[in-house]
Amino acid sequence: MSQYAERIRLKSLCEKVTTAEEAAKLVKNGNTVGMSGFTRAGEAKKVPLALTERARHEELKITLITGASLGNDMDGLMAESGLLARRIPYQSDAVLRKALNNGEVMYIDQHLSDTAEQLRAGSLPKVDVAIIEACAITENGGIVPTTSTGNSASFVEQADVVIIELNLAHPAALEGLHDIYLPTKRPNRAPIPLVNGQDRIGTPYIPVDPARIAAIVITDQEDSYSVVQPGDDETETIAGHLIAFLEMEVERGNLSSSLLPLQAGVGTIANAVMSGLKKSRFTGLTMYSEVLQDSTFELFDAGKMVGASGCSFTLSERMCHHVMANLDKYKDKLVLRPQEISNHPELIRRLGTISINTALEFDIYGNVNSTHVNGTHMMNGLGGSGDFTRNAHLAIYVTKSIAKGGAISSAVPMTPHVDHNEHDVDIIVTEQGLADLRGLAPRERAQLIIDKCVHPDFRPAMQDYFDRACANAGGQTPHLLEEALSWHLNVQKTGHMLGKR
Ligand code: COA
Repeated sequence: MSQYAERIRLKSLCEKVTTAEEAAKLVKNGNTVGMSGFTRAGEAKKVPLALTERARHEELKITLITGASLGNDMDGLMAESGLLARRIPYQSDAVLRKALNNGEVMYIDQHLSDTAEQLRAGSLPKVDVAIIEACAITENGGIVPTTSTGNSASFVEQADVVIIELNLAHPAALEGLHDIYLPTKRPNRAPIPLVNGQDRIGTPYIPVDPARIAAIVITDQEDSYSVVQPGDDETETIAGHLIAFLEMEVERGNLSSSLLPLQAGVGTIANAVMSGLKKSRFTGLTMYSEVLQDSTFELFDAGKMVGASGCSFTLSERMCHHVMANLDKYKDKLVLRPQEISNHPELIRRLGTISINTALEFDIYGNVNSTHVNGTHMMNGLGGSGDFTRNAHLAIYVTKSIAKGGAISSAVPMTPHVDHNEHDVDIIVTEQGLADLRGLAPRERAQLIIDKCVHPDFRPAMQDYFDRACANAGGQTPHLLEEALSWHLNVQKTGHMLGKR
């Protein structure tokens, strides 16, 4: 029996095996397509490329909804071919970034827990075609996802046409890792029955009526490896500040030595901060997060972590080989859930996560911009950071105090775009120090942020701004409105926030 036939356990489905080009013909111009893939993990590999080929030669525009960003340059290739009319809810590709900042692709940057809910409610266009990567198909036609679960179950639930990419490059041993549960319908929705981050509440596969599986395409291609850079002195210092703070919370009796479930966002800094926990005194750590990066497995291997729940894992090449070769060792400690569940406000509030996400910039009152460079240009998207920030036990933002060789301060008088507001953000950490904003009024927050988090090159200018705002403008949240965005205007004019040339 060929290798793929072993993985299609409902034998009648073997007759649906076809080429990517044939499967791609099932997508019509104007369709909404739901594709698997979350933070460069578990995306469909061949059918999207066949779609780009069609888009180069015929009128074919789609609304593409995924879990989050796609690997193997898929977002860039699709944008380049002209295939994408709209993109929802997250991306991190340089080519697509350019297309959406040029206004060529309409981008809806959305809380990642919300997309499935909006689809269910009819607030987003209905998914016509679902294209889902799988590592196996069960006896009843159930789809076993690969390295991400994302929004796949919701796409499959809604689509008229389901296309499966059966990827032989993923080990069949991934089966058993996933826990697929979707909330029941409103009104009178039942509470989600999860009280511990490791609970299993659903099925290990995405249920589907096999009659809706229109095509199965066989692939044999790995995910992209993580592009997260290793930490440096500054990220280590940030980790040090944060660990000292958490140790203090344990001493005060606010947290136990296993803390509360941790969430860490994408990116170099959050990953490095999590790695820093290897050297901490904490034990029995758990994660209730969305993307699981190298640091999760480093913490498992160091004996610090006992369980992790997420909706994808995105690993470096070295860590990917290590994890795949040792899946049995990790399997009973890991759960991959739909992102609606990994990021669900009800569960995050219930579990009381400690959430660590990265800011591009923050202002003196604690508002955070994670997405818009200089207020206008999209970087990636807010991803799940807002899902966690609003509902976490501790909402922590980390960032280096300066960027671009010191021309840009991450601390600014006023953020020109706000993803996370002062009412939700509890802690800000830079390599300069940590500001615990809990229980403080805006004027108190501002002084603490200036003292603890701002780089010395920008601190005097920031203090001067704040002092003049208090003296001349006043109010609950003093600002000099004609000056509040002057640092950003300076970047546009001179490339330096203080207008230096
Ligand atoms: N203005 C302009 N550029 C800035 C900046 C600022 N205030 N702060 C950082 N940057 C630039 C850096 O110079 C770097 O640019 P480069 O790629 O040209 O070198 C880039 O932004 C990334 O910054 P880096 O310091 O490497 O941090 P990171 O890899 O941790 O990414 C975010 C930071 C904010 C872009 C990233 O965490 C993100 O997209 N967050 C939003 C999504 C999210 O939080 N998801 C969480 C749930 S998973």
